[in-house]
Amino acid sequence: MALKEKYKCRVVAPAAEADTIPAVDLTVREGDKVTVGKLSASVIETPGHTNGHIAYWFHANKLAFVGDTLFSIGCGRVIEGTPGMMWRSLVKLRDLPNDTAIYCGHEYTAANIRFARTIEPDNAVLAAREAQVQQQIAQGKPTIPVTIGDEKLANPFLRADQPEVAAAIGMAGKEPSQVFAEIRARKNKF
Ligand SMILES: [Fe+2]
Repeated sequence: MALKEKYKCRVVAPAAEADTIPAVDLTVREGDKVTVGKLSASVIETPGHTNGHIAYWFHANKLAFVGDTLFSIGCGRVIEGTPGMMWRSLVKLRDLPNDTAIYCGHEYTAANIRFARTIEPDNAVLAAREAQVQQQIAQGKPTIPVTIGDEKLANPFLRADQPEVAAAIGMAGKEPSQVFAEIRARKNKF
């Protein structure tokens, strides 16, 4: 409220959560377009972390703001939704073009990599990302953004439908949403 008064800004919010967010000017749903200056984003509904969670995809700019659904080498906690819901939301983001740069709500990359290595210790792309992130941190650089194409190869939460990931956690042949739920449960305890 105070920020809105000070900056005279417009508050855009998911229609599903408009009742709980104060001072909303515009509510949006899947596929709606939101313009910011000359930039245009489309809304992607990504429920799971919260039931109304959305992401903004700036197609022409090849970037997306994904909030607390997808993190680099991780994902948000499933707070309001179900693991199946979160898995489907992550697949929607995974389906964006490989060169889409991801800007997420938290930079937990290094900690996420420590966990991911316990799921896929033999993933060479993940090992390379670990070395890259250590270097970025040592140089005082951010580890974000990262592209969807790179995340697909190293983020275990985007890889729950890869047979080798299911096998690695003793769940060969199980549904991807079940594999995802198990990886998320392990991360919660990590
Ligand atoms: Fe959050």
